[in-house]
Amino acid sequence: MKLKQIFAAALVALIASGGLFAQGSAKSKTLVVYFSWSGTTEKAAQMIAKSTGADLFRIEPTQAYPTSYKDCADIVKKELDGGKIRTVKSAPDFSKYDTIFVGVPVWWHTAPTLMTHFLEEHAADLKGKTIIPFCTYQATYRAETLQAIVDATPTASHKEGYGTTNPKQNDVDAWLKKIGLGK
Ligand SMILES: Cc1cc2nc3c(=O)[nH]c(=O)nc-3n(C[C@H](O)[C@H](O)[C@H](O)COP(=O)(O)O)c2cc1C
Repeated sequence: MKLKQIFAAALVALIASGGLFAQGSAKSKTLVVYFSWSGTTEKAAQMIAKSTGADLFRIEPTQAYPTSYKDCADIVKKELDGGKIRTVKSAPDFSKYDTIFVGVPVWWHTAPTLMTHFLEEHAADLKGKTIIPFCTYQATYRAETLQAIVDATPTASHKEGYGTTNPKQNDVDAWLKKIGLGK
């Protein structure tokens, strides 16, 4: 009887601590935060999360970008030329994470202002974190875009980023291994 009571008490304590039902996300210290307009950066983000066990957080603008390429490209150009910068719907709780992958598509030779502005606004939350940039693109400005993410997070330290025109799990895993975060 006594043994049963001890077992029951231990079980209650374990459940209360979250130990019994803790999922990967509850224990994870790594986050992948990304913006994706047409889905390619999202694919890369999912591959990183798959191999690192990181949580995923998709950045959504409060006002969506147009779905037509031409309209979107016109607006993005204006935003880069000093126009209104879009805000985001919500932010992740950065305090839960030590390592944060930040992903974007290349937009007009650089990272979308939506993301760089968002990162700059969270400089205090990102202080002391490790930021790892990644991007997807069609042809050019990979390095400039990765650098734009580094420049937008001056309070953090950084690891070597990754850029691709066509995300593949093998390539992502090779990069993760190179930066010491592979399986
Ligand atoms: C407004 C806009 C500007 C772009 N500018 C560039 C660019 O300067 N260089 C490039 O290689 N690709 C450029 N692209 C292509 C995207 O970077 C590429 O298709 C990317 O993989 C899309 O990612 P997403 O599907 O996550 O939005 C641009 C796309 C858009 C919509």
